[in-house]
Amino acid sequence: MVEERSLTGKTILVTGGAGFIGSNLIHYLLENYSEIKIINLDKLTYAGNLDNLRDVETDPRYEFIQGDIRDRALVAKVIPKVQGIIHLAAETHVDRSILDAGEFILTDVFGTFVLLDVARQIGQLEFFLHVSTDEVYGSRETGYFSEDDALNPSSPYAASKAGADRLAHAYWVTYRLPVIIVRPSNNYGPYQYPEKFIPLFITNALEGKTLPLYGTGENVRDWLFVEDHCRALELVIKKGKIGEVYNIGANNEIPNIKVARQITQHLGKSEDLIKLVKDRPGHDQRYALDCQKIRRLGWAPQVSFEEGLQRTVEWYCQHEEWWRKIKEKSSDYRRFYKQYYQDR
Ligand code: NAD
Ligand code: TYD
Repeated sequence: MVEERSLTGKTILVTGGAGFIGSNLIHYLLENYSEIKIINLDKLTYAGNLDNLRDVETDPRYEFIQGDIRDRALVAKVIPKVQGIIHLAAETHVDRSILDAGEFILTDVFGTFVLLDVARQIGQLEFFLHVSTDEVYGSRETGYFSEDDALNPSSPYAASKAGADRLAHAYWVTYRLPVIIVRPSNNYGPYQYPEKFIPLFITNALEGKTLPLYGTGENVRDWLFVEDHCRALELVIKKGKIGEVYNIGANNEIPNIKVARQITQHLGKSEDLIKLVKDRPGHDQRYALDCQKIRRLGWAPQVSFEEGLQRTVEWYCQHEEWWRKIKEKSSDYRRFYKQYYQDR
């Protein structure tokens, strides 16, 4: 029987808190815990955005530190102040990792090493929650990956996450650092950077641009609403067993073409906007998780894909300024990798 951990009265370090999942998680924790302190350590790469946290920036329970998880001196100053770490900071976009893998190795692998190693030296943590991904397992046509299956990542992103995942595990086995690892499936929801599939397609459709669907559009992802993911992280912190791995998926396995069509329907746009384009190199066909282990802890998704997509589409319709600002900036990147994106 695992003794339940509490978040009340604790100071928690969230790395990468200015990104998509991090900013949703910070909102979730501040809404649900009146006595909590959150330190958000974020480098503010292209994906980090303080606009995601404007409404909490003056909250006395929240502190932002701009910095790099690879900066050992900085990390050594922050970790003594906290009882737990939720490690989200990473380079996260598969297409970018295909074009240039260097930062993925440096942040996802080496950055995770710095956090783990400083945490081990300081030695007072109650938990180190490492957020890995379902992509570490690779692709499978049928059946479901369980936590004990071998890792077989396909993209440089997934390989860097697999390295970090196993390093975190090694720090538990070797040094008894209180690591728990989660492997969530594809998230969607408010504040997701509009280079990822769902927000890219919503915002392109709003702009009347084409929706570039890779390959045949038959690739399958298991879509998890970000709020359900936040609830799962909270539960794993409270009840998860140290040293264990937990898959987090919502059992929403949907081919991309179907998601694309649903987006056009929600927005009242023509399906003609959907354009099949050249496939992503090494494109994983299907991700699918066996989530019995986290279900046994007491978690189940509360938001259906239907409802989650409706809420997400509405959010992007209501936050046009937020995504237009980002898309203007990110067009430089697309211009730089013109050929890759032109093919798509
Ligand atoms: P994101 O790209 O939206 O945000 C990443 C954040 O990390 C940004 O705020 C960025 O500024 C910060 N960051 C990057 N490098 C940093 C560094 N060196 N030091 C400090 N901060 C740095 O990512 P996300 O979608 O919110 O994903 C968060 C985590 O969850 C990642 O570890 C990702 O691998 C994992 N994950 C994401 C999904 C998904 O569908 N989004 C699914 C499974 C797992
Ligand atoms: P993405 O959001 O990049 O997540 P991941 O590759 O990490 O699962 O892509 C989700 C799915 O959507 C994936 O099968 C690739 C596909 N996709 C497109 O078809 N077109 C696009 O423009 C993008 C970004 C993704």
